[in-house]
Amino acid sequence: MTARAPASATLGDRPSPRLRPGKLATPGDWLIQAEKLYAKHRVALGQVATNAHDEALYLLLRTLGLPLDSKPAVLRRKLTAEEQARVAEVFRRRTAGHVPAAYLTREAFLGEHRFHVDERVIIPRSYFLELLPEQIPQWLPANKPVRRAVDVCTGSGCLAILLAHQFPEAKVDASELSPDALAVARFNVATHRLAKRVKLFHSDVFDAVPAVKYDLILSNPPYVPTRELRDLPAEFKQEPAMALDGGRDGLDIIRKLLCQARDRLQPHGLVVLEVGGLRAAMDRAFPGLDLHWLHTEDGEDCVCLVQAARLINWRG
Ligand SMILES: C[S@@+](CC[C@H](N)C(=O)[O-])C[C@H]1O[C@@H](n2cnc3c(N)ncnc32)[C@H](O)[C@@H]1O
Repeated sequence: MTARAPASATLGDRPSPRLRPGKLATPGDWLIQAEKLYAKHRVALGQVATNAHDEALYLLLRTLGLPLDSKPAVLRRKLTAEEQARVAEVFRRRTAGHVPAAYLTREAFLGEHRFHVDERVIIPRSYFLELLPEQIPQWLPANKPVRRAVDVCTGSGCLAILLAHQFPEAKVDASELSPDALAVARFNVATHRLAKRVKLFHSDVFDAVPAVKYDLILSNPPYVPTRELRDLPAEFKQEPAMALDGGRDGLDIIRKLLCQARDRLQPHGLVVLEVGGLRAAMDRAFPGLDLHWLHTEDGEDCVCLVQAARLINWRG
């Protein structure tokens, strides 16, 4: 699982105030202190932000109920005793307790889109945010708008919701095996006012999804090889194991998805899969598919695409 951009906390400047020993009177003092605590407790990043400063700033602003685009001056205001206690508790849980920031704030962002998250779902951090607007549409016929799309393994529903925003004429289906995650997805779909266009199915991959031919099948499935789960940092171990565990070689769900997708695609359709750094394993496991690897900010081994014609003739 790779790091995604943090929510848009835009206070760029590092705080000027020097920390007085034993005195954490302002948000700026706390920002300095938090970065020390992140280092001391070897906090794992990558779920909400890629660096301690950005994440601590985000947590500070949220904990104090301040807008994420606050002016730097807010770092200098005096905190009340109650605010200091609240901030101290949040950073204690985040650093000594290793609780992921998004589970503390109960929210996560993909770009401008905000989602409810809690311990029932993995924290959204998908490459599809950067790929959906430009790269993926280049592989779809210009004269055929996407009318049916599906997000397999939807978790919080975040990618199904992105699909619906990206393709306003599309009906979007989404499958998810965890009833807990499905409840979160239902909440997010309703909050985004998409209940009419996004349908959620309690399903093992496509098993319980009505037989529809899709223009676009997209998935960020579990793909961590089982033996690697125990080596994950504490923060990632707090995410549902079911969201990460891809079986012995990480490809269990992907194999099933690709087999089932053969009957689920329009002739011009596409399957796009986010598979972390599993490019070598995927190319080895599915040589006949001639997978195309899309360019992401982290390189070309994270997201692959296969066209319907390839998949339909595949004897996997
Ligand atoms: C890596 S998470 C991705 C969630 C979401 N799409 C995202 O990008 O944040 C994978 C999701 O697949 C679900 N899942 C695991 N096995 C599944 C299966 N056999 N069929 C459908 N969903 C499954 C997990 O519960 C988890 O919510």
